Amino acid sequence: MSKLNSGILGTGHSFPEGILTNADLERIVDTSDEWITTRTGIKQRRKAAPDEYTSQFAVRASRQAIARAGIDPADIDLILCATVTPDQILPSTGCLIQAELGAHKAAAMDIVAACSGFLYGLSLADAMIRGGQSEYALVIGAEILTRYVDYTDRSTCVLFGDGAGAAVVGAVESGRGILAAKIRSDGRYQDQLYAPGGGTKGGFSAETIARGDHFFKMKGNELFKIAVRSMADISREVLLEAGLTTEDVKLFIPHQANQRITDAVANKLNVDTSMVYSNIAMHGNTSSASIPIGLDECVTAGRVQKGDVILMASFGGGVTWGGVVVRW
Ligand code: ACO
Repeated sequence: MSKLNSGILGTGHSFPEGILTNADLERIVDTSDEWITTRTGIKQRRKAAPDEYTSQFAVRASRQAIARAGIDPADIDLILCATVTPDQILPSTGCLIQAELGAHKAAAMDIVAACSGFLYGLSLADAMIRGGQSEYALVIGAEILTRYVDYTDRSTCVLFGDGAGAAVVGAVESGRGILAAKIRSDGRYQDQLYAPGGGTKGGFSAETIARGDHFFKMKGNELFKIAVRSMADISREVLLEAGLTTEDVKLFIPHQANQRITDAVANKLNVDTSMVYSNIAMHGNTSSASIPIGLDECVTAGRVQKGDVILMASFGGGVTWGGVVVRW
């Protein structure tokens, strides 16, 4: 039996300054603000400049989270950076963040679970802390998705944005913190969202780059249905495990993929839309960064009070999904 609960001690987030509006996209591809707004809820997204890279935003978000947790970077013994858009293939973005923060006693690594990466990280950090292998874990979701978006493909280029969010996880009194966490994947759906180029299978050459093999390809329609089902199911599972129902939930932070997905999940769970957080209009889909950004926005806006139950659920390429319930 576990002796400790782990909880979120501090949060932070960071964005690039560049903004890409729907009006900007109207000038790039055959789309319209009306289509993007009604089909996705997105009005704008952040876009990193060509000389910016993922770990820069991760480090800024992490510094905020560490300061708010009231600890020193040297106290951190685990860094889990969820990203599908790392700075480089080797070493991990986690190690680059570690060096920048001066968190020299940490084990650092990346998690590749697309939009579910942050909840994968929370779940692993929770297990490591409860198992006594970690005292302070830094869990990050950080992406520069706009680098892997094909701006001639209107079905994907309107969706994605850049940013980073972070959380420090550590021991808390029993009855609080992470009450239940579950992560899942199903590789049989690998072709629903993928980038074939750049690895040992697809290779990388002038030819693969010219073909755009490094860009995301997505079967949006099919993903939509699996996303709604998976996020609703895992939400019910984690609530059940925590001995709670949707009636106990004060705030639901789903992965921000599409406002229609969020609405459909809320509808399936029968939760009031007033408790469902949405920032998709401003940030688009930032993959692994979307939940920690949303969480930090809620915390800094005073939307989260001590004792509140927060439900988080995600779904992403792989396919992967996860759910976490926290008592703040
Ligand atoms: N502007 C105008 N028209 C468009 C655009 C656009 N940007 N994109 C597609 N269309 C057109 C299509 O060509 C199609 O036209 P047609 O009927 O003449 O063929 C029509 O709009 C309808 O296309 P659909 O793909 O059926 O549109 P849909 O309502 O499904 O919306 C979307 C597409 C927004 C991608 C939606 O399916 C979605 O959000 N899917 C889920 C995405 C997701 O959850 N991804 C996983 C997480 S992300 C991650 O892991 C990194």
